[in-house]
Amino acid sequence: MSSRIAFVTGASRGIGRAAALSLASAGHTVILAARDQQKLDETAQAIRQAGGIAHTVQIDLSSPDSIQQAFAKAKEIGTVSILVNNAGITRDGLAMRMKPEDWAAVLNTNLTGAFLCIQQVLQGMMKERWGRIINIASVVGESGNAGQANYVASKAGLVGLTKSLAIELGSRNITVNAITPGFIETDMTAVLGEPVREKMLAAIPLKRFGQPEEVASAVKFLAGDEAAYITGSVLRVNGGMYL
Ligand code: NAI
Repeated sequence: MSSRIAFVTGASRGIGRAAALSLASAGHTVILAARDQQKLDETAQAIRQAGGIAHTVQIDLSSPDSIQQAFAKAKEIGTVSILVNNAGITRDGLAMRMKPEDWAAVLNTNLTGAFLCIQQVLQGMMKERWGRIINIASVVGESGNAGQANYVASKAGLVGLTKSLAIELGSRNITVNAITPGFIETDMTAVLGEPVREKMLAAIPLKRFGQPEEVASAVKFLAGDEAAYITGSVLRVNGGMYL
């Protein structure tokens, strides 16, 4: 098993935190990136307690300057070989009433932020002729969802970005894949009311919601040598909710 440097956005909680723990357990050095330094420190501490290696950098995905600064710090640690674009936000609302700033905030953070992170790691990956880019999209990026035009557009955009870059970067031995989680129990879904949860549960063949660790294991797999021949794929971790 090769040990590499992984950069995980939104690593302070939820799926990003679980992905960071999982990558560290596979022997990778993990750079945890998010806005909240205190929560990053907590995740880093959990990784170190489990015997892993973790660094933290503050990043605001909605700011190109912040992204540049975060990767400048990451480059002092070494070449990032695994990038997990996980951070994401929602600003839900019906399209007719959606404020332009809610559209822009979601697209900027979820899609443009991910693209700018990818740009930051490409040179190093190309030089090493090895790289793994894993974009956390969403089931709704494939299925669509009323009241989430901005979020769905950002996640469908991530899938398109994934496929284009898989073609563009394949000859450099850089794989680019997307994971589309279904309903995963995190802070993001904790805000949903009981009627929504019940409706969703009824649509999930496995009859339960997913756990962050169940997405994290897919991240670990795609980041590893076992997944060397998988690129441009969309891995659904959704309990069968959308097939
Ligand atoms: P969460 O809300 O628990 O965590 C999101 C993470 O992103 C946090 O660490 C937060 O600090 C970070 N983040 C948000 N905006 C940021 C910004 N501007 N700069 C830096 N970091 C920022 O969410 P969860 O559930 O862990 O989601 C992680 C990813 O998985 C997101 O992209 C989300 O869209 C996606 N996803 C989640 C699903 C779910 O059911 N929970 C389903 C499908 C996709």
